[in-house]
Amino acid sequence: MPDFDVKDLGLAKQGRDRTEWAEKSMPVLRQIRERFAKEKPLSGVKIAACLHVTTETANLAVTLAAGGAEVALCASNPLSTQDAAAAFLVKEHGMKVYAVKGEDNKVYYRHLNQALDIAPMVTMDDGADLVNTLHSARKEMIGGVKFGTEETTTGVIRLRAMAKDGVLAYPIIAVNDANTKHMFDNRYGTGQSTIDGMIRATNRLIAGSTFVVAGYGWCGRGLAERARGLGAHVVVCEVDPLKALEATMDGFRVMPISEAATIGDFFCTLTGDIHVVRAEHFLAMKDGAIVANSGHFNVELDLDALEKLASSRRKVRDFVEEYTLGNGRRVYVLAEGRLVNLSAAEGHPSAVMDMSFANQSLCVEWLVNSREALEKKVYTVPREIDEAVAMLKLAAMGIRIDALTEEQKAYLERWDLGT
Ligand SMILES: NC(=O)c1ccc[n+]([C@@H]2O[C@H](COP(=O)([O-])OP(=O)(O)OC[C@H]3O[C@@H](n4cnc5c(N)ncnc54)[C@H](O)[C@@H]3O)[C@@H](O)[C@H]2O)c1
Repeated sequence: MPDFDVKDLGLAKQGRDRTEWAEKSMPVLRQIRERFAKEKPLSGVKIAACLHVTTETANLAVTLAAGGAEVALCASNPLSTQDAAAAFLVKEHGMKVYAVKGEDNKVYYRHLNQALDIAPMVTMDDGADLVNTLHSARKEMIGGVKFGTEETTTGVIRLRAMAKDGVLAYPIIAVNDANTKHMFDNRYGTGQSTIDGMIRATNRLIAGSTFVVAGYGWCGRGLAERARGLGAHVVVCEVDPLKALEATMDGFRVMPISEAATIGDFFCTLTGDIHVVRAEHFLAMKDGAIVANSGHFNVELDLDALEKLASSRRKVRDFVEEYTLGNGRRVYVLAEGRLVNLSAAEGHPSAVMDMSFANQSLCVEWLVNSREALEKKVYTVPREIDEAVAMLKLAAMGIRIDALTEEQKAYLERWDLGT
């Protein structure tokens, strides 16, 4: 048995069944796994991976291992772990996994450190907590790390800030920036799974409600579109005038959060920003308002302020906490303000994680094979990887597309042909 810390190894069979179910919707990753198993491009590579430990991540971990890598896996959020998937990886793949759903912050960081104990050559992060821990508490290990990958918007923002400050110690690829990642995972994945988490937690009707979406980036637009599809009156809050304009012309009402706070039945933040919903907004909400976050960290909601405003607080359902305010109104916070889609539901559908994790796998392979000396900065995903993932996905979906004719290729390179 490897070193591990998971909830219950008895869940391994359930984890295998669920991981196999996810794999059915992950044809691109499956093809990569089959090739990796033959070519072993990651032989001898140690990877410390800090990701949401879901059945899709189990498929990624198995793919990396098929390529010859040794993987140690920890959770990238205290509430996002699927305990069955974690047990399956330990029991049936002998993998070092450190993740228990509901772990507190202390255990969360202990798990990050345990994953780092394998002395990784590669870090695979989701939100940059692993990289941050390495650069602060585990500096002695940095010399052995050659490269990294980062899965999400918030992580990429943090890493770019580190590179700007000259403290990033090795090159990292921003997997999030691949088109085949954020255009699908963030938009369709977060859109659907956030609704799923909010419904599973509350069982409330979305139709006819006023649904406030804060942030109209890739995740926010996905959620706004899906909430509209369920019959909600969707309100968008933004700070970027272009995004606000886009939301307006996409047919949504746009207004500041201070106004939206007074009319919303549901609220969800997806900004990557801090304290988007604050004390004055909680105070302005209607009795019974439901508040969630699907951005990476729970700082999007000022929960400390809410705690101070509340005269009482109690759990009323799984993942639903009732705060009764001094004004007598009740506000319901879902999943402690943590990513609601991964806490109260199962995260993104496998079909989008197929592309995200195909990018992860191919980026690690690319980094390991890279002959050029890479700088200590954040790289975008090589275009050929992004296009290869799109072509493989289309092929797996049975969709064929046109190719440019020679005449068209020549035409598109000319400037002298007009009307
Ligand atoms: N729940 C998930 O599974 C999941 C999946 C992918 C990404 N994420 C996370 O979701 C967050 C958003 O990601 P994205 O890819 O949509 O980012 P994005 O950069 O495309 O969009 C964020 C949007 O929020 C807006 N914004 C920032 N501060 C704001 C504020 N105070 N009020 C209103 N709007 C504000 C920005 O202008 C921007 O348009 C990040 O934290 C990301 O890591 C979560």
